[in-house]
Amino acid sequence: MIGIFDSGIGGLTVVKALMEYLPGYDIIYFGDTARTPYGTKSSETVKKYALENTEFLLSKGAKVIVIACNTASSVAMESVAENFDVPIFEVITPAVELSINTSHKLCIGIIGTRATVKSGIYEKKIKELNPQAKVYSRACPLLVPLVEEGWLKKPETNMIVKKYLHPLKVRQIDTLILGCTHYPLLKNIIQKKMGKKVNIIDSSIAVANNVKAFLEKHKNLDNMLSKKGRCRFFVSDVTEQFEKTATSMLKRKINLEHVSSG
Ligand code: DGL
Repeated sequence: MIGIFDSGIGGLTVVKALMEYLPGYDIIYFGDTARTPYGTKSSETVKKYALENTEFLLSKGAKVIVIACNTASSVAMESVAENFDVPIFEVITPAVELSINTSHKLCIGIIGTRATVKSGIYEKKIKELNPQAKVYSRACPLLVPLVEEGWLKKPETNMIVKKYLHPLKVRQIDTLILGCTHYPLLKNIIQKKMGKKVNIIDSSIAVANNVKAFLEKHKNLDNMLSKKGRCRFFVSDVTEQFEKTATSMLKRKINLEHVSSG
């Protein structure tokens, strides 16, 4: 099974991408809905949660872990990799590699939660790959609650997106990384605001691509993964709203199972 976790249900954007790139692979998802959001918490707290979430997925039989949450990937990737002996994927590196490989001007923007932007991880990784790159980041804390409310096409959301993106537009970036699980759901509005020449990088697709390439190279591991098309979705708190949003994100009825976090 491929184990995926996120602070909540935003990571279902990664599940969706994995289902597309690796159809039939069994998936187990954990959304820490009782402790969401992670984007406003300290890195120590997010690390602790990430270790607990990984342990839970491994206890359920996951053989590969995907950290779908950008905030957890930013601050907890190293701790998770140090503590568990299975392949761990995060969403930052694939998005960074894709941005460097596709950007013409190497003028790259990043949007994410406060914790992700504060960590400086995207800048660090981009500069490691290409020190010439110019990087501009912007925290967009209001976008997560807007997506969770399902306000994907409201004029208010349009206005807020415009305000957040303005400084990046002024810098004339040619590539924009969506550094948060929820932002792929606003991709159309974001693309419209930035203009069609700006290449929008969706980390959910980038990580799904990486997992696929890794499994193609590591056949032993691939053979160990069950492929019966089964998916289980665990959350640490079940509410009607989560179930509704999750169903509309995956465009199929999904049944959230409750498990205590921590
Ligand atoms: N999953 C988080 C991320 O991708 C967004 C929601 C949160 O703040 O927990 O950064």
